[in-house]
Amino acid sequence: MISLNINHAFGEITQSQIEAYEPLVKKAMEMLHQGTGKGSDFLGWLKLPAKVVEYEINEIIDTADRFKSCETVVVIGIGGSYLGTKAVVEALTPNFDLLQKVRNCPKLLFAGHHLSEDYLAELCEHLTGKKFGVINISKSGTTTEPAIAFRVLNKLLKKNIGSKEAKEFIVAITDKSSGALRALAEKEGYKTFAIPDNVGGRFSVFTPCGLLPIAIAGIDIVEMMSGVLTIGYMIDRHLPFTHNIASRYAATRHALYTAGKKIEILANYHPKLHYVGEWWKQLYGESEGKEGKGIFPASVDFTTDLHSLGQWIQEGERTIFETVISIKEPSKLLKVPREKDDLDGLNYLAGKRIDFINKMAEQGTRIAHVEGGVPNIQITLPKLNPFYIGQLLFFFEKACALSGYLLDVNPFDQPGVEAYKKKMFALLNKPSS
Ligand code: PA5
Repeated sequence: MISLNINHAFGEITQSQIEAYEPLVKKAMEMLHQGTGKGSDFLGWLKLPAKVVEYEINEIIDTADRFKSCETVVVIGIGGSYLGTKAVVEALTPNFDLLQKVRNCPKLLFAGHHLSEDYLAELCEHLTGKKFGVINISKSGTTTEPAIAFRVLNKLLKKNIGSKEAKEFIVAITDKSSGALRALAEKEGYKTFAIPDNVGGRFSVFTPCGLLPIAIAGIDIVEMMSGVLTIGYMIDRHLPFTHNIASRYAATRHALYTAGKKIEILANYHPKLHYVGEWWKQLYGESEGKEGKGIFPASVDFTTDLHSLGQWIQEGERTIFETVISIKEPSKLLKVPREKDDLDGLNYLAGKRIDFINKMAEQGTRIAHVEGGVPNIQITLPKLNPFYIGQLLFFFEKACALSGYLLDVNPFDQPGVEAYKKKMFALLNKPSS
């Protein structure tokens, strides 16, 4: 099971302050489960673990199999329609397998998550003449970035393999009835999956949005969902506050925020977790950052960033706290070799696992940061595998909803995201619909 350690968060806040959160978190939990809080029409994600049934999973796995003949599958989407997949696939794929088709699993590439002309043009150059798959994900079905990427890639795919065959390699994941993508998919006869009405983008990784591309990447989604189901019991509404890790994480970060810690840095010691940080930033940033409130979520990759942002973290403005995702046991084994001459002076580490050294870096950094005024929260995964990734992401989702209610905001809307779109559409002279 994943675990939470808040013992190093104390100093400016105290253990008894955290325990005093019990009634507040209980109230937030009741609002969430009884659907009486803000944004209660977007609580579908809460029941997803129990709702994902065998036939849905089988349909997703069968659809994923369609793409085994492709070298590459392009996942089109932005925000919640892309980050969950990217986070899980990067966390669970051997680093260098990401670069090519391995074990019958196509390489996943991503598009529609920005508007870079060079990127899209270079992607087209890379895919010219090839048969590739397209998973087009947009809940609203009208988001500009993915819509442009799909128009370009659909044209290329048709050119590469012909219009009739192209349709077999396109899947649309969108609202069950509304939006331009739904209309297009029905007209063209693409295979489709629906995103439930009551699940917002950033909470959608355990819907077909995430499950299909994750399955295409060869990751065991059944195992991932059983992790989600298991953690569901560990963060259940009826679990006492002292045992509920989602409640305790939400309470601790709220107490730190109230004590002036306005920035939370999510740190990892494994580059594979980089996109878990990106996914987490969207989840917490879009859910909490509103009405002039909210912790600013940042992320760092250690030890890499200890050689850059580490300076700021150690000695900059004391407005931060740190949440570290720690992996207990790595998947591989590699030790520092002994050298007869020891010219680099590393023989004191000879025979030690690289992971042991990484763990010492993690502990040393924690001690230094805590002493430097950066409270530390630790979340530990026994291993990096589908089961524990499922647990981690669902834990974060539930803690995020509770955090939003503690802050008295609607954690399920994102009104601020519309502002840039309005200005951009005005500049582009978009006709009003
Ligand atoms: O969390 C959210 O709702 C957003 O980040 C969306 O996921 C993002 O804007 C993409 O929207 P859509 O899936 O409608 O294209």
